[in-house]
Amino acid sequence: MKIFLTGGAGFIGSNFIRHVLGLRKGYQVVNYDKLTYAGNLANLQEVAGDPSYQFVKGDICDAPRVEEAMRGADAVVHFAAESHVDRSIYEPAPVIETNVTGTFVLLQVARTLRVPRFVHISTDEVYGDMAPDGVAHEDSPLQPSSPYSSSKAGSDLIVRSYVRTYGFPALITRSSNNYGPYQFPEKFLPLMITNALDDKPLPIYGDGRQQRDWLHVEDNCRGILAVLEKGRVGEVYNIGGLDVEENISIARRLLRLTGKPESLLSYVQDRPGHDRRYALRCDKMAEHLGWKPAMALEDGLRQTIDWYKSHGEWLSGVRGGAYRSYYAKYYENRDASLGEIAPVGSKSSS
Ligand code: NAD
Ligand code: DAU
Repeated sequence: MKIFLTGGAGFIGSNFIRHVLGLRKGYQVVNYDKLTYAGNLANLQEVAGDPSYQFVKGDICDAPRVEEAMRGADAVVHFAAESHVDRSIYEPAPVIETNVTGTFVLLQVARTLRVPRFVHISTDEVYGDMAPDGVAHEDSPLQPSSPYSSSKAGSDLIVRSYVRTYGFPALITRSSNNYGPYQFPEKFLPLMITNALDDKPLPIYGDGRQQRDWLHVEDNCRGILAVLEKGRVGEVYNIGGLDVEENISIARRLLRLTGKPESLLSYVQDRPGHDRRYALRCDKMAEHLGWKPAMALEDGLRQTIDWYKSHGEWLSGVRGGAYRSYYAKYYENRDASLGEIAPVGSKSSS
């Protein structure tokens, strides 16, 4: 199987490439990635010399380049996205462009080339904020809250329309919050881990009682591979860790596991429009594909902390000048920055 994979230099995509090439001899992967701030070829050093792996630099919005690189593919697995909710609030344009227009371009090219399988990687955020004990299943309404989640919901709907209108062989995965090795330290878990290791404050948005369902990236990769190989065309599959926990409780666990004091916890101004709770029902993955998450959260957190401790060089590589400016703007000058740009009428939980 020759897989045309987008966004493979990012966090989940790079884990998926290592996962597939490690498990499936005879598979080939073409990694098509624009190398935005989130794309990093250092994530793929282990496979860079593998003859089954090829890297092509390109933008998913560039149709001719996509067509050239996708030709001959047996499957598309589409990870590429602007994936960070905070950035999508401050600068929505690239998010809409990549996540909506980029997905549309890929679908058009894949349909023209008659690629027999297309897995679109989506997110539980498309279901929006859930009731305190609510759980989303694949048929729950899409009620996205942020520019990021609405762009993902938009792309899901375009994929769905291609299945229905053109009989296009697409499938969708919607996973919960991933964590694990190679995650860029703008996201909650790697940011909290790396700040704790550096004795820096852990910035907790609002009251910290928002809930997320934590999924180890290896469990997600196993789920995505199962969907790619055995999922039913036209179906949506929720992939969750089934470990729903409040942010503040995760931050406390990390401080305990790193041996750092709770005085590092620092409550900061909330994210505008912040969803309180995500939780997924994942029965379909179990029933159709025999998948369930395997990594216990405590073990996954320990493993992830150890990974960041032993990858200092990788970390200094990704925490260069651009990262430092981002951090200074949205954390060290948070109140002023949010004051400048927070949309009128946003619902803040703090
Ligand atoms: P990431 O930000 O780590 O990586 C995104 C990758 O896409 C980068 O390598 C980047 O260079 C590339 N990219 C961005 N714009 C591009 C463009 N226009 N053309 C080509 N490449 C481009 O993202 P991630 O966390 O690995 O997420 C991967 C996918 O999984 C995304 O679609 C995201 O919406 C989805 N997802 C992520 C999570 C999570 O917790 N991280 C959970 C659910 C779903
Ligand atoms: O749910 C799946 C989604 O998970 C993916 O689709 C997104 O690509 C991914 O970024 C992630 O979105 P979240 O907004 O849930 O993740 P983030 O890591 O940004 O934040 C997790 C929670 O932690 C959220 O409630 C906001 C909070 N938070 C985040 C940061 C960065 C803080 O309290 N402090 C922080 O500094």
